[in-house]
Amino acid sequence: MPASIILGAQWGDEGKGKITDLLSERADIVVRYQGGNNAGHTIVTADQKFALSLIPSGVLYPTVTPVIGNGVVVDPQWFFTEMQTLTSKGIDPSRVKISHNAHLIMPYHRKLDAVIERYLGKSMIGTTKRGIGPAYTDKFSRSGIRVQDLFDEKIFREKLATVLKHKNKLLVKVYNQLPLDFDEIADEYLDYAERLAPYVADTSLLVWEGLNEGKNVLFEGGQGTLLDIDHGTYPFVTSSNPTAGGAPVGIGIGPTMIDNVIGVAKAYISRVGTGPFPTEQLNDIGDRLIEIGGEYGVVTGRRRRCGWLDAVALRYATRVNGLTEIALTKLDVLSNFEVIKIATAYEAEGETFTEMPLQQRVLYHCEPVYEEHEGWSEDITSVTNYADLPALARKYVERIEELAGVPIKTVSVGPRRDATLTKA
Ligand code: GDP
Ligand code: IMO
Ligand code: MG
Repeated sequence: MPASIILGAQWGDEGKGKITDLLSERADIVVRYQGGNNAGHTIVTADQKFALSLIPSGVLYPTVTPVIGNGVVVDPQWFFTEMQTLTSKGIDPSRVKISHNAHLIMPYHRKLDAVIERYLGKSMIGTTKRGIGPAYTDKFSRSGIRVQDLFDEKIFREKLATVLKHKNKLLVKVYNQLPLDFDEIADEYLDYAERLAPYVADTSLLVWEGLNEGKNVLFEGGQGTLLDIDHGTYPFVTSSNPTAGGAPVGIGIGPTMIDNVIGVAKAYISRVGTGPFPTEQLNDIGDRLIEIGGEYGVVTGRRRRCGWLDAVALRYATRVNGLTEIALTKLDVLSNFEVIKIATAYEAEGETFTEMPLQQRVLYHCEPVYEEHEGWSEDITSVTNYADLPALARKYVERIEELAGVPIKTVSVGPRRDATLTKA
């Protein structure tokens, strides 16, 4: 704080929701800057569990203004469903603000996401099928429809007519699908206009004013560094920039206004969907990490792929995001492992790689170079001071810190807010 980015340092699902929620206690504004309802951020309070996808994790605090920035793609149908779920759980989400410049996820985006994946067959990316990729494609091809377009019926109808003509050709002629109906979409979305109106704001201005008034602002990333469209394992990535550089663009502020970049990393690593994964454990160890870590997707329920911590990737995340600190989560999951491994390099084609290789193919067939750490057998879920962790657990954390080259300031030992240790 005052302006901190919280982002995933791995392939997503690192526990960003938990860490954002924790820091939100002292925040005034919490902003999502990219992605959409492909994210699944879990927050566990003393008596409830929340799974947030589109709405920023700060929403649980009545003192926080949650903001959906211009860089986010917004599915209005989903937005209202999530608002309703929060309300039914006793949370008042009415303070949420949405950028007038955010792009809308349309029914054809969701449909195309599903059919393109099917068409790709074995090469599929394993998307969340929420229409994210197709919505960003339209944004960059300048045929997207923005939140502000909903408030000018003539413009909205014109834009929809043009784009739908093209999408229906694609759906019918290339993907052998039924066309979508213009009137149905127009009616649905124009109805959203009235309902969305109270939430729409110039969120760039709102954040800028907040920062100038000395307010504490958190920028919450979805996904993670290795899913970044530029810096991740392309094409097995999402279609936005979860890395720190995406934050100023996706909010509409200058990079000089950001003070801290907090990378959230699990004490091991996971990914969902396809793509290279050097430290993946397709064995008992992977199964144990999945079962003990509860590694099933919040959005899709898919079993996550799990493996040992990859320090090459973590160092990379430190660099491309300019991390100022790391929050290490799920350390408790590693209790009772006799041996815990960390990959410090990759070996392939007679070479040793200590940085991300120039050719991604290396990631598919490399052998990770592991260092082995003696595990601990104590249950650490009720430890409240970092110093009270077993010595072997502290040794493991401090080795990660050394390898990442950035301080670990927070260690999480359970899903709940209070299962969090501050490391000096
Ligand atoms: P996000 O997408 O980065 O917010 O992470 P997810 O919510 O998708 O996945 C993280 C999962 O781990 C959730 O089920 C959290 O409740 C849980 N979690 C977070 N921190 C910890 C921790 O320190 N220990 C354990 N055991 N679970 C945690
Ligand atoms: P949070 O914020 C993990 C993955 C999908 C797929 C790829 C592209 O909860 O960490 P998309 O639907 O974005 O086009 O899918 O990205 N993916 C995630 N994996 N956590 C996420 O979000 C993800 N959001 C997308 O599984 O491989
Ligand atoms: Mg998640």
